[in-house]
Amino acid sequence: MTTAEERIEELRQQLRYHGYRYHVLDEPEISDTQYDVLLRELVKLEEENPLLITPDSPTQRVGGPVGDLFAPVQHRRPLFSLDNVEAAKELDAWELRMIRQLGRPPDGYSCELKIDGLAVVITYENGLLTRGATRGDGTTGEDITANLRTIKSVPLRLIGQAPALLEVRGEVYMPFAAFEELNRRQTEAGLRIFANPRNAAAGSVRQKDPGITATRDLGVWVYQVGLLEGGPTIKRHSEQMEYLNGLGLRVNPASAAVKDLDGVKANIERAEKARHDREYQTDGVVVKVDSLSDQGELGYTSHAPRWAVAFKFPAEEQVTRLNNIQINIGRTGAATPFAVLEPVFVGGAKVSFATLHNEDELRRKDVRIGDQVIVRRAGDVIPEVVGPVVSVRTGDEQEWAMPATCPFCGNPIVRPSGEKVARCTGGYTCPSRIREWLFHFASRGGLDIEGLGYKTIDLLLKENLIRDPADIFLLKPEQLLGYEGWGEVSVNKLMKGIDGARHRPVARLLMALGIRHVGGTVARVLARNYRSLPRLMDAAEEDIAGQEGVGPVIAASVHEWSIDPDNRALVDKLGAAGVSLEDEMPEETHASDLLQGVTVVVTGTLNSMSREQAEAAVVERGGKATSGVSKKTSFLVAGESPGTSKVTKAEELNIPILDEAAFVEMLDKGLS
Ligand code: IVH
Repeated sequence: MTTAEERIEELRQQLRYHGYRYHVLDEPEISDTQYDVLLRELVKLEEENPLLITPDSPTQRVGGPVGDLFAPVQHRRPLFSLDNVEAAKELDAWELRMIRQLGRPPDGYSCELKIDGLAVVITYENGLLTRGATRGDGTTGEDITANLRTIKSVPLRLIGQAPALLEVRGEVYMPFAAFEELNRRQTEAGLRIFANPRNAAAGSVRQKDPGITATRDLGVWVYQVGLLEGGPTIKRHSEQMEYLNGLGLRVNPASAAVKDLDGVKANIERAEKARHDREYQTDGVVVKVDSLSDQGELGYTSHAPRWAVAFKFPAEEQVTRLNNIQINIGRTGAATPFAVLEPVFVGGAKVSFATLHNEDELRRKDVRIGDQVIVRRAGDVIPEVVGPVVSVRTGDEQEWAMPATCPFCGNPIVRPSGEKVARCTGGYTCPSRIREWLFHFASRGGLDIEGLGYKTIDLLLKENLIRDPADIFLLKPEQLLGYEGWGEVSVNKLMKGIDGARHRPVARLLMALGIRHVGGTVARVLARNYRSLPRLMDAAEEDIAGQEGVGPVIAASVHEWSIDPDNRALVDKLGAAGVSLEDEMPEETHASDLLQGVTVVVTGTLNSMSREQAEAAVVERGGKATSGVSKKTSFLVAGESPGTSKVTKAEELNIPILDEAAFVEMLDKGLS
């Protein structure tokens, strides 16, 4: 018969093991429910036998609130900072300095992601977590043991043969999804929102009540051994990291040991490309000399090791002055405010304008003309104003109001009550609206005319060469030749782009025309059923509404558009200019963009196809298949015995989960 004591120990071991599989390896073996059953049994046994409770029990993560102040912690070894480098040339210079000192290049490098979070020091004595501290000023930090214990990827007890003393350094961070969710909760509760995941992580770790920290979904990556006593002798940094991983600590899998600086540069390039696909914020790559004896020989300057540098990615946030707020009139007449900025480099590009989204958003953020504002540009995303730096206001800042008349055509701007957007009432007499209309028509979401962007459209409008989309197809090469930058080569290229757009599928033409409520899916349904634009335009409203996936609102919008004489004239003119208004082949043969913009993750076993076949089927239809669930995932397809962490994650992120039947239907019909 097992005693309570034995059963308690057994349960703890199982829970530690499964917690490690889930939080550190991200490869759970049992479902969340199975885990909960074990945990509940342990809680019950511990309640019955309180004398058997130990601080490293999986039930003991969340303790009571700590006092008013976090106790100061004197670090056993000071924490240095890192010298930054921003270009390949500076990496070369760094290596040269080391060659001068060592008489040869260092023996290999280790590359790690630079995680944008909060540096912490965690101490284990004989395998037990005894202290967690912030970095502080590098010499003295704050005791945050109670809060660190609530982070599930921080083991309370190491696994395997633990050393007598281990001090590890790492970064506590908050994943993007958790950050957004936290800000959503904060907004709902009327509390302050955090500017970025790093601030949110730092704020969460410095909570007086560990119960609050426990709700914040933080993670940790460890990246450095501070002290190791009574453990194995290890010769390389990368081997130390493997050792830590073996003890159950979470080491970032994107770390790589490389031979030389070329390897380092290739790693940096890859890390920067993958930056926006990650679930958490990284701001660079930390490059370390891998050989510990080389590290010892190189030593430290007064503030940083000579054996490591941080290669920083371009900053994605900057502060600059907001010089003015202007509006843009879109192709539907919507007036969108945008910021005119004192030009600033953000995310590797010069930014002079940034979106403010809409009037309400601008009010909510309380952005004023003359403010110092935080500007953010991440990847290909349009630069946006995050908010003002209120603390540096002088009092001269001006509040902004939507102008009463359109700055482009002089007609009134009105915002019907209850609507989110204000609109210019000038219709197609408004030059801004025409410009945006033409841009949309030629863009990727429309007929995809290569080489016809804003710059060319502006020239064509200014020279009165076009007034509507049909005019594009009437352009003659000689009309363009001779304008600045327009030689034979560039003119021919544009003409080729225009010719290529004459015979696009009707669905594309429908999208290019920008009919309200007609997006990709509806356009494909309409094109499949009518196969011809004139036939659709002559159809009765009830007939349109009778198509599968087309409701009364869409039908009314299409019909209203179709009977407008201006639109009918435009379509006639397009036809006369040689644009095909009919699909020759059934739409099915164009099925390749059925899942355009859709990202799918497949987990578990499907009956009718292998996972590879399922992924290939998504890709064939213009979609993407990825392996990890993130906020960019559109659907999780779950076959038999799906990965529980993927399902849980999808549920957390509110991502729809499809079974096999629903997935097969989606492959057949797209999103309807
Ligand atoms: S190594 C002596 N590795 O960057 C080695 N630091 O300025 C010192 N950081 O405060 C640190 N990811 O918070 C190292 N993989 C990584 C890192 C990393 C993020 C942070 C850390 C430190 C700062 C260095």
